[in-house]
Amino acid sequence: MSARQRVKFLVVVAVITSLLDLTNSFQPLFSLAGNTKTHRDITQMAVLRKTAGVCRDIAASEGRDFSLKIDNSLSADKVQRACSSRGTSSFLLSTMFQTSIANMYFSNAEVDVVLALSEKHHFDDETFQGGRDVITAGVSAVKASVKLENFVAGRSTLGRVCHTLQDFYSHSNWVELGNTAPFSALIKPDKPLTKLAGPNTPTCRNCAEGNCANNLLPDLLQQGLLTSGYFNIFSSAKPSGKCSHGGSFDRTSKQDPVGGISKDDVESSHGFLHHKAADLAVNATMELLEDIRVTIGDKNFLRLMGLTQSSVLCFVIDTTGSMSDDIVEAKRVSFGIIDSKRGTQQEPSAYILVPFNDPGVGPLIMTTNADVFKESISKLTASGGGDIPELSLSGLQLALTAAPPSSEIFVFTDAPAKDSQLKNTIIGLIESTKSVVTFMLTDDTARRRRRRSSHGVFRRALTQSDAQLYQDLAQASGGQTIEVTKGELSLATSIIEDSSAGAVVTVFQAVQNPGRPDNFPFTVDGLLKNIIVYITGASSLTFSLNSSQGVTQSSSQSSGPLFSLITVGNLRRLKLNTENQTGLWQISVDSNNPYSVKVIGQSSVNVIYNLLEAHEGAHRDFSLKEGRPLSGGNASLLVSVTGSETVRVTEVTLFDSSGPTEVNASLQSIGNGNYLVTFSGVPPGDFVLLLKGEDISSPSRSTPSSFQRQAATRIKTSSISVTSQTNITNIEPGFSISVPFTVAMTTNGVVNDSAAGTFTVRANNDRGYASTSPNTVTIEAGSGGTANGTVTLTVPANAASGTDVTLTIEAQDAAATDINYTVLRFSVVERVTDVTRPTCHEVSTSANCPSSSSLCASSQWEFIANLTDGISGTGIESISIRQGNGTLNTSTVVGTGGENVTVLTYSAFCCSPNVELVAVDRVGNLGRCVGQVRQSTTAAPVTTAAGGTTSSRGHTLSITPTLWISVAVSVLWK
Ligand SMILES: *[C@@H]1O[C@H](CO)[C@@H](O)[C@H](O)[C@H]1NC(C)=O
Ligand SMILES: *[C@@H]1O[C@H](CO)[C@@H](O)[C@H](O)[C@H]1NC(C)=O
Ligand SMILES: *[C@@H]1O[C@H](CO)[C@@H](O)[C@H](O)[C@H]1NC(C)=O
Repeated sequence: MSARQRVKFLVVVAVITSLLDLTNSFQPLFSLAGNTKTHRDITQMAVLRKTAGVCRDIAASEGRDFSLKIDNSLSADKVQRACSSRGTSSFLLSTMFQTSIANMYFSNAEVDVVLALSEKHHFDDETFQGGRDVITAGVSAVKASVKLENFVAGRSTLGRVCHTLQDFYSHSNWVELGNTAPFSALIKPDKPLTKLAGPNTPTCRNCAEGNCANNLLPDLLQQGLLTSGYFNIFSSAKPSGKCSHGGSFDRTSKQDPVGGISKDDVESSHGFLHHKAADLAVNATMELLEDIRVTIGDKNFLRLMGLTQSSVLCFVIDTTGSMSDDIVEAKRVSFGIIDSKRGTQQEPSAYILVPFNDPGVGPLIMTTNADVFKESISKLTASGGGDIPELSLSGLQLALTAAPPSSEIFVFTDAPAKDSQLKNTIIGLIESTKSVVTFMLTDDTARRRRRRSSHGVFRRALTQSDAQLYQDLAQASGGQTIEVTKGELSLATSIIEDSSAGAVVTVFQAVQNPGRPDNFPFTVDGLLKNIIVYITGASSLTFSLNSSQGVTQSSSQSSGPLFSLITVGNLRRLKLNTENQTGLWQISVDSNNPYSVKVIGQSSVNVIYNLLEAHEGAHRDFSLKEGRPLSGGNASLLVSVTGSETVRVTEVTLFDSSGPTEVNASLQSIGNGNYLVTFSGVPPGDFVLLLKGEDISSPSRSTPSSFQRQAATRIKTSSISVTSQTNITNIEPGFSISVPFTVAMTTNGVVNDSAAGTFTVRANNDRGYASTSPNTVTIEAGSGGTANGTVTLTVPANAASGTDVTLTIEAQDAAATDINYTVLRFSVVERVTDVTRPTCHEVSTSANCPSSSSLCASSQWEFIANLTDGISGTGIESISIRQGNGTLNTSTVVGTGGENVTVLTYSAFCCSPNVELVAVDRVGNLGRCVGQVRQSTTAAPVTTAAGGTTSSRGHTLSITPTLWISVAVSVLWK
């Protein structure tokens, strides 16, 4: 197929391919050619540098050292270590920071897929106003999400905004104009965009024999006018005399003036400026991050970046009548974790609580404040719920979409799920988020009918098939199903404490269902601490453990040389003593009932991975894949090793959990611990991902250097393809959106265009918003093997800006044996009409500091300013001191135009001669007040207030009653 035919094919059929193939920006994720900076590189560098800078400022304010050099050699590990206030080399790194950075660059890259043809999202076609609107609306959305502590959604939006901002430097002539600083007006909506080349102003001339170095018109450059390249894959039409983007897919660049000005990579028309543009894009991204940082504060900024050592604590709790003991226990264990970890590295980074009952689910409580969580969980009471099944899956759905990826979620219930129709939606969300779900199922012998389970262990209200649903979900996620009596629950919750230890890694995991005796080898490495083995299964199960040194201990010894054992309900917890015993261990389990084995430990060395969608185009690149990989097709992954610069991945394997199938991957290192992993022809199945590697820093034979980590989440393949072509990312409250989707049957990863059949469709969203969807779609014979449908989703008018909603669209074949899905995440964002920043006017500076700095501690100075968001602004929400050690007092008066005016009175000792105050309005626009002491040689200094107070803060107003009056007057007369 020729390139043009291919383009047409892609656009018309657009099934499992996408427009990324026509990429027209910095390369999204990878540059396998090298020497080119991608959106991923730019975003990562800006995030690392800005995060390190914030940590440096925090360290300075706390009087701590910060020795990390902030340059382009930063890595996530280095920044994470330097930002740790304890700063010890022994502390364990979590993968949260790297995972968050990956979320940002994947959502950044997605703009090239879903918004490939939108000019303004790439600053093509001189759409400067449109592009700036995309950026400023996006920044408002990020701030709205952070306000709701919705950092996951905030990160996705931020990634997308960065794409548009970064493209400006590649697609416009900003660099060619000789600029060496970012174009700040792009993040300041109230600044006019000046010096734009008008619609009739010619901007380019033909490139001379393919050399585009001098194709911008000298007039344009002399006058300093801004332009950007036109881009179109369908038509060569463009306004006369205008520059093109350039490149093989851009048809406008074949038309006079031929050639282009893009700096996307070193091969582009203006490729000689690629690195300049990319460096400036890094600085511009940092400027945008700084704006967000100042608005939301340092603490929230670091949370938004995912800079936290610890995981979230996430409980989904049944609050029906019989659950009071369980609620008491959930409260006890969470209070224990909070109280023992407060102020430490392991303090949970956030708390999520989802109560469910019948008919209610929620409200979801998500907070970074431990006391808010404590209060919320204390308020839970068990009541109601006459009929037995409860809405456990709806509760879990909310938790899965709210928690950061790879969280561990604990569900407490004693009842079957009433909403079992959500099963596949939940599995889709588990696969998409890689979160681990563990069920704490308790037996209520008091209220519910006694039944004997097939395991014969418990008298439980849940039938075996009820429990099976929970087991299936736990298994898909790598979690466990703990079945205990209510009396035993407090012994089983140690599993929650284990998972909140920080830097928890999965070493090995297997489920044997149906059960049969088997041996499970696993490698213990020297970087692994506090190893715990869980075995769940019937009470008749026995096992033995062999260490790498040949020592054996069996389940009949509850304590011994290798482990100490606690058995509660169906759970056995083995705390291992592995000191100096690295190497290959083995667990042998003897049982003919279903069982599971899981080995965890704590280590900085861990692996994060994401499934990719490959795009073969002008450049080979990838985007994040949602949904299951296609049976028989190729599967690509981006794998990143974290926590050490001396470990490398040597082997990545997919194991079929139910059979002998094993698929090996080809590995390509793309630098900094990242690997592009490709599995060719993945057979149909249900896989676990095992990674092996070695630490090249310890080549000594006595300390074996190999390690293994296993992905908790199962990877399942499907022959069904479900894709959505929506370009919508934000929804306004009160509005509906239509989401078109396409279902296709595939063979060996390719659409089978002779397939026919009917598929059951389900569309579910986690917020319970109104939605419509066809119940089925049918692929008609001869229709090319695809069927289309549309889901509509309506956001209620009262939905808060900053909320997010996750929509899952599933298609299942007629035999109900195969299913695939796509997951779409939207932010609810109110349209922002207030784009003006709060303004600040200095009223007075009483500035009589002594010229000798040795006397500065005995004198004070005062700065008074009026701050307003104007008559049509949303109003000032917060004011904080960015610089200066003084005291700030505020009061509100009404200005002459009826606007609210906040009077700022700042006073400080003369030793602190500068002040910078920042004010944020309700939609996140940022204003600044800057004041500086003026040295006086004549006037007497303002002296400190005398009498009795020891604090240097909080009493300054009392000494200046006259000033107050003058301020009031000056405001009234303004
Ligand atoms: C999104 O898609 C719709 C329908 O395909 C199209 O009309 C609209 O222009 C697109 N918007 C953007 C920003 O690409
Ligand atoms: C980016 O900013 C850094 C310092 O903040 C500066 O040293 C560097 O020159 C800037 N890069 C560009 C391309 O302007
Ligand atoms: C493990 O090794 C360290 C140093 O190699 C040694 O100090 C320690 O005693 C050893 N522990 C055991 C249980 O052998």
